[in-house]
Amino acid sequence: MKIYQSSFHTVKFTDLEVDWERYYLQRPDKIFFEKVYEKWASIDNELLDEKNFTRAKKSHAVKIHELFQNQRKILSIGIGNGITESELLNMDPSYEINGVDFVRDKRWDSRIQYFNNLKACNGFSYEGILLNSVIYNFSDTKLSDLVSSLHKIVVEGGKVIVWDQDLPTLADLKEIKRRHSRLPKKGKGVVLWGELRSPSKIKNFFRKKFRHIESKYYYVGHDLQDHETKPFFRIMGYKIWQSKDFHANTSQLHIFKKIN
Ligand SMILES: C[S@@+](CC[C@H](N)C(=O)[O-])C[C@H]1O[C@@H](n2cnc3c(N)ncnc32)[C@H](O)[C@@H]1O
Repeated sequence: MKIYQSSFHTVKFTDLEVDWERYYLQRPDKIFFEKVYEKWASIDNELLDEKNFTRAKKSHAVKIHELFQNQRKILSIGIGNGITESELLNMDPSYEINGVDFVRDKRWDSRIQYFNNLKACNGFSYEGILLNSVIYNFSDTKLSDLVSSLHKIVVEGGKVIVWDQDLPTLADLKEIKRRHSRLPKKGKGVVLWGELRSPSKIKNFFRKKFRHIESKYYYVGHDLQDHETKPFFRIMGYKIWQSKDFHANTSQLHIFKKIN
């Protein structure tokens, strides 16, 4: 399911000086992301709902730390603010973390090594890969390339953790599609931020090179924390129903291992 976005944290895309003939309802590229980060730096990288966002990202670290068991040499791709990864280092200083993104955020722990693209990691080897809220930014072609590239830099027995938003319920999908159909064909300020995929679609991408070990499903409760829930009943990947107790969207986490 396509997702359109008009802002990133406190940056409104209408404030960006970009060629909207090129970007309106299209996927952002490196140039667009760099404009976003340039604008964000000019407003001191202010986060939206900083307190709750930081708390949620730190609590992700607790879950990820449990899942990484023996893995300590980690690459986080699309590391963003690096709050989760910095928290991993607070929990266990024996982590060696590298991060890939378009810029290095001021919040990163100084022990995290920065790379501005995945190619720069060639020649390194990692016991764990973290893709937290990232793969939806990748087109199918780019995701296939990513999986192949990862296979080259992950050690035998190494783990890949993919945590992404889940698809909505069928009822929400109908409403979302209605809203999307009302977007004008031309304009400014809205981009195709990415694509949410079903659990089986995500697993199929990674299974080309890795073995699927386990999946977990979470909902955001009214305490704004992620809580594990049972797998959902689905039609075409979309949830049939979700409890009204869920404050926000659900997420899916998949663990893969490199086993030849
Ligand atoms: C929603 S944020 C998630 C950040 C972080 N992982 C987290 O959980 O808070 C997605 C991040 O992926 C980065 N990103 C998107 N496409 C990318 C690419 N092709 N290469 C590297 N980073 C990318 C964006 O710059 C952004 O920081």
